[in-house]
Amino acid sequence: MRIAVLKEQAAGETRVAASPETVKKFIALGATMAVEEGAGASASIADSAYREAGAEVVPAAQAVAGADIVLGVQAPDVMALAGAKPGAWVAAVFDPFVKRERVDAYAAAGFEALAMEFMPRITRAQSMDVLSSQSNLAGYKAVLAAANQYGRAFPMMMTAAGTVSAAKCFVMGVGVAGLQAIATARRLGAQVSATDVRSATKEQILSLGAKPIFVESVAGIEGEGSGGYATEMSEEYQKAQAELVSSHIAKQDIVITTALIPGRAAPRLISDAQIATMKPGSVIFDLAVAQGGNVEGSVPDRIVEKHGVFIMGYSNTPAHLAADTSALYARNLFNFLSAFWDKEAGKPVLDEEIGDAVRLTRGGQLVSERLKG
Ligand code: NAI
Repeated sequence: MRIAVLKEQAAGETRVAASPETVKKFIALGATMAVEEGAGASASIADSAYREAGAEVVPAAQAVAGADIVLGVQAPDVMALAGAKPGAWVAAVFDPFVKRERVDAYAAAGFEALAMEFMPRITRAQSMDVLSSQSNLAGYKAVLAAANQYGRAFPMMMTAAGTVSAAKCFVMGVGVAGLQAIATARRLGAQVSATDVRSATKEQILSLGAKPIFVESVAGIEGEGSGGYATEMSEEYQKAQAELVSSHIAKQDIVITTALIPGRAAPRLISDAQIATMKPGSVIFDLAVAQGGNVEGSVPDRIVEKHGVFIMGYSNTPAHLAADTSALYARNLFNFLSAFWDKEAGKPVLDEEIGDAVRLTRGGQLVSERLKG
């Protein structure tokens, strides 16, 4: 069983799919590990660390030659897989709704594409969930980036020269990233409030010491679809939400938006007219900017100034703390493959529940029900 780890090719991608720790663990299971030279450099992992862990560190073509499994953060182009075994598995993030041609190319080449973002949200798969591990750190980084851009302090400070008042921070979307954003803003000393369409999040917001801001007037909406994800809301709800947000947002200094709906463009949560009501110098960090954006006028990797308000967002927030996000991503992949390791066969054998959820292609065919439907 040969497992290859390639250097990421996508622009701005600084993460790597294996760490020295997971290399060691895969070897302990009986695998041979081949890591492309320089694969970990932008995540602060030297080639020597992989070598010490027991990996071969070689040029890309050599790493991939004869590989049974290729690990990636963002799925490599099919051309990069030349020389891998027929039917080799590639475990990575595929962004399959957007990058459909790549999935088709994998099918045509006979590779088995395993999309890590399709990991089911079930208890036993929590340690394999790359969306959670990456969103958690992204939520943290969003608050730090916003704090850095903000020309005032977060905590209240009473000094001899006078009092500095606490920043008011509003988090929209309380999934994994939003929860970490709330916790981070609280640690920095801000007064934090938060909203979501899923009413189950109210308790979580309160337990982190923040104030829930919820639409109460539209009855019978839980906002929760399959797998704990949000659903698209009714027009009536969206209108009520917009009104509530308008009055609240005008008083905020920092807004962090994190709202996503799987397989669709991110919902628009903040309009230009609402931005115009905010105080000059306020900062909005749009964590959904790469999925179409929650905020009107947000542009990936730019700080846009509108009505005196700074609107920002990264195209790839986890890449801004690559050492930690890589370590957790690498563990997610190890937890996934090792959970299914068949000692006799000397390779992983996936079960139906998780295998069918993550597998996009097999035997030259597109097999994912989520993609077909
Ligand atoms: P996500 O990244 O898909 O969305 C972020 C948040 O935005 C969600 O809380 C969503 O409800 C919210 N949202 C969507 N549309 C909105 C709107 N119009 N206005 C305000 N908020 C809006 O969500 P994430 O972080 O992936 O988590 C989704 C759920 O999955 C959570 O309940 C989480 O606890 C659960 N989960 C379960 C896991 C497991 O059991 N293995 C692992 C990770 C998460």
